[in-house]
Amino acid sequence: MIRCGFSVRLSADDSVENQDEEYFFIEMNGNERRIRFHDYEEIYKIPGLYEHLFYDRLRCESPQVVADLLENEIEETPRSMSDLKVLDLGAGNGIVGKVLNKKGVNSIVGVDIIDEAAAAAKRDRPGIYDDYLVEDFSDIDDNLRNILEKNKFNCLTCVAALGFNDIPSAAFANGFNLLQENGMVAFNIKPDFVEDGDSTGFAYLIKEIVAEDILELKSEKRYCHRLSMNGDPINYVAMVGMKKAEIPEHVCREL
Ligand SMILES: C[S@@+](CC[C@H](N)C(=O)[O-])C[C@H]1O[C@@H](n2cnc3c(N)ncnc32)[C@H](O)[C@@H]1O
Repeated sequence: MIRCGFSVRLSADDSVENQDEEYFFIEMNGNERRIRFHDYEEIYKIPGLYEHLFYDRLRCESPQVVADLLENEIEETPRSMSDLKVLDLGAGNGIVGKVLNKKGVNSIVGVDIIDEAAAAAKRDRPGIYDDYLVEDFSDIDDNLRNILEKNKFNCLTCVAALGFNDIPSAAFANGFNLLQENGMVAFNIKPDFVEDGDSTGFAYLIKEIVAEDILELKSEKRYCHRLSMNGDPINYVAMVGMKKAEIPEHVCREL
């Protein structure tokens, strides 16, 4: 992958309380500017910046950890990784697709809400996705749903994308409902967002679908997702489960 000439300066700011408000400085062509960590449009436009920031500097482990956990579970079933038809929700510039592809998955459709993500995936990891849709997955119409159902997805991945005003619970529920029965679901999230009292709706969704045997949780792993700006570990939980039924309308309406 081509990397543009830039240098990144990280500077911890104690006034920043939330992970999605963190920012960094980038110097390119003699100019320095500030970019928020969650300003993905700007980050994806610069080849190599997302990888340098989150992977080289902040040691993000999530795509590998989630894919490894998924692979371990697949080994417990008669299926193999090459049988998976994956819907990668919040696919970004394709890092998860690439990790899955290395593990033998050769059917992956990516979805992201911004054009810059689709363009970066095509630019940086060509050939990894069979198709890449730019859609707000929290609001998909029947026409798109009918088209996507033809893919007969048997795996949903959603990595480093839930919580913090990223992918809403409704988008996750839409992806989940597109899976075939017994399809695998692999995702990660900050534990606060799955514990009681969380306001994003994800805690409610997970509690409800596990209690109703809609999602059978198979395994989970607590690990360091990445480092914070001051070098402290940010711990997440990776989860893998199996879809047993559709999420009903009344649960979706609450999200
Ligand atoms: C932190 S990135 C993760 C990218 C990739 N999964 C990875 O692990 O490198 C989160 C992505 O979710 C996308 N996203 C946020 N809301 C979305 C929505 N409603 N529908 C689809 N994608 C969304 C963002 O544009 C962003 O590219």
